[in-house]
Amino acid sequence: MIAAFGKLSGLIKELTGIVIDPEKKFIIESRLMPLARANGFDSVATMIHMLMSESQPALLAEVIDALATNETFFFRDRAPFDLFGAHILPYLLQARAEQRAVRIWCTACSTGQEPYSLAMTIDQFAPRLTGWRMMLQASDISRKAIEAARNGLYNQFEVQRGMPANFLLRYFSREGENWRIAEHLRSKVAFSNFNLLNSFEDRGPCDVVFCRNVLIYFDQQTRNDILARLSRVVRKDGFLILGSTEALLGGEGGWIPAPAAPMLYVHRDGPHAMAAAEFAERA
Ligand SMILES: C[S@@+](CC[C@H](N)C(=O)[O-])C[C@H]1O[C@@H](n2cnc3c(N)ncnc32)[C@H](O)[C@@H]1O
Repeated sequence: MIAAFGKLSGLIKELTGIVIDPEKKFIIESRLMPLARANGFDSVATMIHMLMSESQPALLAEVIDALATNETFFFRDRAPFDLFGAHILPYLLQARAEQRAVRIWCTACSTGQEPYSLAMTIDQFAPRLTGWRMMLQASDISRKAIEAARNGLYNQFEVQRGMPANFLLRYFSREGENWRIAEHLRSKVAFSNFNLLNSFEDRGPCDVVFCRNVLIYFDQQTRNDILARLSRVVRKDGFLILGSTEALLGGEGGWIPAPAAPMLYVHRDGPHAMAAAEFAERA
């Protein structure tokens, strides 16, 4: 199993950027075991051997689904959504008043809770958005996660994690034991299957990018490469939002932290950087 594990982690890193910790090989084996059995293999090692020797795109996609950590919840960390509603969107409504269009991208949206939290936040502005195009795109490498996101059906535990009770009543309807997101919100999110290692050419220009709790799975070089490419996709006065444990310290990709706004980053050579510098001087 050790040699097979080494080969598999090499392949996964090459295809997805995800670095598998060798210490976690038993966890990996337990995640892959049901998949191996369902596909008629007698062991995980045999399945990996097959993957290495033949092109098996469908099986490979299932392996990636099984290895990707999809942990997420509505309004995760709260602050980015508060910040988005209190500062980012009001700023964009002024700055884009001529174009009347705003483009937001959730780059690793898992099962949809993050873009739907944004869609609910945006919906609070509905009276001011007549005539505006609010483009909310959400993607993930995991096909299974994107399928679940598109479906928009969540169990009781999922809707209770982080969701304000009035939002649950307002934006979801009961379906048996589960809760379905309102169609008018679901239809506002364009979901797609997308790997962050691929070119971002068709993704921008964006005003806001959420890239949360995914960079932690990559090595420094992959992280820096993604951050640099994101800086070319996000407009100069746009915003990047990372996860709470993904703080950038060294200006990676040309991003600097926005003052007093944890998890929010702006272009080092953009208009918000000036405000950031003035703020830092006053502090
Ligand atoms: C822990 S979840 C984070 C979900 C959400 N952004 C949040 O913060 O709650 C990480 C997600 O990153 C996705 N992912 C991992 N590698 C990826 C890649 N190379 N391209 C796109 N998504 C990737 C996984 O499938 C998973 O859904």
